[in-house]
Amino acid sequence: LASTEIDLKPIATGSAVTVMWRGKPVFVRNRTAQEIQAARQAPMSELKDPQADQARVKKDNWLVLVGVCTHLGCVPLGQKPTDPRGDYGGWFCPCHGSHYDTSGRIRKGPAPANLAVPDYTFTSDTQIRVG
Ligand code: FES
Repeated sequence: LASTEIDLKPIATGSAVTVMWRGKPVFVRNRTAQEIQAARQAPMSELKDPQADQARVKKDNWLVLVGVCTHLGCVPLGQKPTDPRGDYGGWFCPCHGSHYDTSGRIRKGPAPANLAVPDYTFTSDTQIRVG
């Protein structure tokens, strides 16, 4: 499929879903206020791939990412509340130990870049189209 629609209504605050898009997992996380705050308070000087959280989202709580580690392509853990999420509360890649924050930015470990944000648009308040 060239594009895929995702209904956001069932995704409660603090939870996430994974959908497949062009053969890759796409992570959609409904961030808590705390997760948003943590992402916004991170000093740019501490980021390996400096990007403001605001530049990575279209709405504060909705974070949409390509769920492929930028090191060697494993799928990071963190989508389920019981998953390890690493030292920064986002995602943890178990392959070689990359830690991503609540904006999907690389904070620790061998990955060179942030988790990618795919092209997407809000088609309504509660639906997005990826691709
Ligand atoms: Fe994720 Fe190596 S593939 S840390």
